[in-house]
Amino acid sequence: MGVAVPDTYVELADLAMARGVAPGKYVDGLGVTRMGVPLVDEDTVTLAARAARMALESAHCSPDDIGLLVVGTETAVDHSKPVASYVQGLLGLSTRCRIFETKHACYGGTAALQMALDWVRSGSAKGRKALIVCSDIARYGVGTPGEPTQGAGAVAMLVSDHPALVVLEAGKTGVYSKDVMDFWRPLYSKDALVDGHYSVECYLAALEGAYRAYQEAAGDAGGEGAYSDRFAALVYHVPYGKMSRKAHRHLRTLDGDAAPDASFDRLVGHSLVMPSQVGNIYTGSMYLALASLLSSAPEDLTGKRVGLFSYGSGSCAEFFSGVVQDGAQARVKALGLEARLARRRALSIPEYEDVMRAREHLDERPAADAAGSGFRYQGTRDHKRIYAT
Ligand code: HMG
Repeated sequence: MGVAVPDTYVELADLAMARGVAPGKYVDGLGVTRMGVPLVDEDTVTLAARAARMALESAHCSPDDIGLLVVGTETAVDHSKPVASYVQGLLGLSTRCRIFETKHACYGGTAALQMALDWVRSGSAKGRKALIVCSDIARYGVGTPGEPTQGAGAVAMLVSDHPALVVLEAGKTGVYSKDVMDFWRPLYSKDALVDGHYSVECYLAALEGAYRAYQEAAGDAGGEGAYSDRFAALVYHVPYGKMSRKAHRHLRTLDGDAAPDASFDRLVGHSLVMPSQVGNIYTGSMYLALASLLSSAPEDLTGKRVGLFSYGSGSCAEFFSGVVQDGAQARVKALGLEARLARRRALSIPEYEDVMRAREHLDERPAADAAGSGFRYQGTRDHKRIYAT
């Protein structure tokens, strides 16, 4: 696994004050303390490439080992050329690699992951690995209710028949999809549009449908106690921390738990440590929450089952599960993600607003002459995006 977030962020308490809102509404009411805000040399490609490089390096995996690269994103940089092709170039992946992009709001990365699992299980992988990257920059209009639920980041995962972190359980998955208009981004807009409170209802309805479908697929419903106590942890899609709390309350109520909040800290709390400092990263949000769980849970999760709920507006959702492998927590801790989050620089609100304005015209920004390094977007020349390697 690899994770990339922007080097800069906005303190939600500062944003609340600038918008004339009580800081408690964003920090406690939404459960977010900071949101990642990318500067103008960062885009979906650079975040994806940085996360993918970390995944390859941490697994000591050569670019030639990758036979499939899929980038799930809803903030692509081109109508035709996939983010995945830029990532292939930046990382030097083999030409014998199948490469494309998937889109279904925040579910796009999970769609890619499930497809990669089938590719590995079918034998088509022939010993090679799939590289799945979820990369997005969440953007709502300045001053809208969605503004404090922005964020940016990427999570990359290697999928193979010898998983080092989590074994995703074959057949144990429940899907729920429904055509709804809860959140969308028209082709002419850089900002997402959302029917906020309705989107929460859609998320919860999808959770219920996917959870029921999972129980049917697993064929083990019934028995003593709450069904979700079969999981050592539950990782929900996190547009903002409070949504995970609402999700958990709903799921435990479905389980017949008369005190549905009582298990929240035990089953969900550790998955929110990092998302609460980064904000919504759309496709990668649930996977950042999984990284957070593996990095910060104090108990040994080896051999234990984790429930995963992915939701994409529009909508498609999936509840699936995995078993944590020996050494997984040490591997994720070794990525040093919490230290990386701590090293970021805070933007003042005027600086953040300047960045938001500048990002409006990023696609047409003339490429800078000075050569940079480290996977940075330099601008566009002859209608072609230029990246520093
Ligand atoms: P809002 O309507 O301005 O906020 O925006 P609110 O009035 O609902 O207040 C939020 C919470 O703060 C409430 O708590 C208040 O009580 C509390 P709740 O009742 O929900 O438990 N509150 C306070 N708490 C402490 N101190 C205070 C205080 N004041 C109020 N002083 C909304 C909220 C979520 C609608 C908005 O941020 C939004 O539209 N966000 C974007 C949409 C979103 O994230 N939806 C989530 C589900 S859909 C999804 O997850 C998919 C998505 O990731 C996209 C994709 O799939 O690609 C978004």
